[in-house]
Amino acid sequence: MRNTHDSQSGSPESPIESAAGARGDGVDNIKDANSPSAGTTTTRIVLASRPHGEPTQDNFRTETANLQDPGEDEALLETLFLSLDPYMRGRMSDAESYADPVEIGDVVVGATVSRVLASGSPEFAEGDLVLGYGGWQTHSLEKTAHLRKLDKQAEVSPSTSLGVLGMPGFTAWAGMNNIGHPKEGETVVVAAATGPVGSMVGQVAKLAGARAVGIAGGPKKVEYLKELGFDAAIDHKAEDFEEQLAAATPDGIDVYYENVGGKVWEAVLPRLNTYARVPVCGLVSGYNSTELPEGPDRSGQLMGTILRKSLTIRGFIQTEYADQMGDFLEEMTPRVADGSVKFREDVVDGLDSAVDAFIGMLNGKNFGKLVVKVAD
Ligand SMILES: NC(=O)c1ccc[n+]([C@@H]2O[C@H](COP(=O)([O-])OP(=O)(O)OC[C@H]3O[C@@H](n4cnc5c(N)ncnc54)[C@H](OP(=O)(O)O)[C@@H]3O)[C@@H](O)[C@H]2O)c1
Repeated sequence: MRNTHDSQSGSPESPIESAAGARGDGVDNIKDANSPSAGTTTTRIVLASRPHGEPTQDNFRTETANLQDPGEDEALLETLFLSLDPYMRGRMSDAESYADPVEIGDVVVGATVSRVLASGSPEFAEGDLVLGYGGWQTHSLEKTAHLRKLDKQAEVSPSTSLGVLGMPGFTAWAGMNNIGHPKEGETVVVAAATGPVGSMVGQVAKLAGARAVGIAGGPKKVEYLKELGFDAAIDHKAEDFEEQLAAATPDGIDVYYENVGGKVWEAVLPRLNTYARVPVCGLVSGYNSTELPEGPDRSGQLMGTILRKSLTIRGFIQTEYADQMGDFLEEMTPRVADGSVKFREDVVDGLDSAVDAFIGMLNGKNFGKLVVKVAD
């Protein structure tokens, strides 16, 4: 089953803190089911083998294990929401990256909103809602130092701490403010624009007085971009995509927030203005690729364009700006709460939906921030 939550259509209950989280230690603490001290059972999805190209069900295995009772400064958690994000595809590979891969047999990593079942720390009590990094499982044992308590009194749903007010929303805000620097009257372009990163990029652009052009896959997503406040919306699957992009950017492009790479980037590059800025956030069109695209090496042409147009092309990982998370939450929490910044969630039901939903996300099947509802 799949539900969507659109910020315009309802007002959820609770709040947010941060989204950055360290890897939970609960996975390491899982004991064998035959252990005498075994307590709570967790159902977990582990990496059974490394995907080659698009992941398949065979790359994952569901198993159960027992978790110890929490020791000092640990908490036993029940997962309510699991975030599914494109970066997880990178963790399934052992290619060199900015973070260690998930080992074969380990629980797949992921940010989670959980309820505290038992706590070995005075700072966390049974029933507290917390943001952590419990991974693809129903229960986890985590170090409380890695948890953030979510204020039950705030006006937005706890799942937003995984999306619009979590790591993805922060990534958009940080990339725009530190690298994109959108200015009044400029043109900002972003793809994967209905997702949690892209939709925040467009809204940050509008708040700066810039013109926001969103790119998405398919007519329904394009229609939604207009509701979000984008000035123009384009379908990257349309045959005349390049012509549509030219029509939507008559004054060229000043900021291209790079989420996808591939043919969108190829269409954008010639339209970049002198002194354009390109925060390179993600390249999701290639995450399942097993080889370089066919065709001639065009890196010389790219370097020539960078030189002639004085472009700034700057990659980043959101953790680089982690010390700005407080500022982000201070600015955006009230805007999300009052509806002036909008978001959309695509909620799938049950941990057993996670693998299919994750595979679909890399092909654009999600519509909004993809979240698995693991328990009520
Ligand atoms: N640097 C960092 O620290 C950081 C942090 C978070 C996220 N990211 C990156 O930010 C990007 C967006 O993340 P998100 O969580 O907001 O994901 P998302 O938008 O919820 O999901 C990915 C979307 O990518 C689009 N897509 C997939 N293949 C594509 C293709 N060939 N061409 C164009 N679009 C394609 C699809 O949307 P359509 O159906 O609209 O095509 C899909 O829904 C990803 O690249 C992610 O890796 C980076």
